[in-house]
Amino acid sequence: MRIPLVAGNWKMYKTHLEAIHFVEQLAHGLAGHDDQKVEIVLCPPHTALRSVQTTTEDRHQTFGVGAQNMHHETEGAFTGEVSPVMLKALRCKYVIVGHSERREYFGETDEGVNSKVKAAFEHELVPIMCCGETDEEHERGETESKVNGQVRAGFDGVSPEKAARAVIAYEPIWAIGTGKTATPEDAQKTISYIRSVITELFGDAVSSQIRILYGGSVKAGNAASLFGQPDVDGGLVGGASLDAAEFAAIVKAAL
Ligand code: PGA
Repeated sequence: MRIPLVAGNWKMYKTHLEAIHFVEQLAHGLAGHDDQKVEIVLCPPHTALRSVQTTTEDRHQTFGVGAQNMHHETEGAFTGEVSPVMLKALRCKYVIVGHSERREYFGETDEGVNSKVKAAFEHELVPIMCCGETDEEHERGETESKVNGQVRAGFDGVSPEKAARAVIAYEPIWAIGTGKTATPEDAQKTISYIRSVITELFGDAVSSQIRILYGGSVKAGNAASLFGQPDVDGGLVGGASLDAAEFAAIVKAAL
């Protein structure tokens, strides 16, 4: 049984003080829903990781803390970067890797994403590896070939034991921050295809364990129908994760 996961990707929003306020409001919104049937992961900017970690750790709900990015090296002269060891020391459990915004604005390649996926596992962080097609690729019917390439490259050299613990987020780029969501059927189709790629790479046991999320304009109003699909194990939520009441409603949709 795969436990659904709902992750909030705050992107470059919220100071550490706003983060503390958010956690209070979210806990309030989720009161009475602490049966641990869904894992909630908050991915704030690096500057708010510590605040989110300390304010979530003693709560009843299963909160996890995730970073939005990291460098693959343990330490070094890489001005402005943060290492997996530093994230681990903050009790981060997850790290988003290869988000389309990182690929587009910061030149991340499939090879770079693969180094980060491997570094995450090496330091016992769970990578949330993102993949997804652009609008043009979608129009040309290249969704499957795009995600196939990204998933194979991202997991290159990863053992089946490690892959089983990973999380994949399928995020069609045309749906991110646009208000256009993939239909539940389309999300299911592509996510079940991604699962079949994992079966080819690592076998049935891994593909039945690995969690695959949908991301791209998830909201309280569409979450239940997306998460209700058999292969969709939750969501990676951007804009709608910034509002505690909205995010709480999305978490409840995953229950
Ligand atoms: P969105 O972003 O929910 O605002 O579309 C999702 C993401 O980028 O992870």
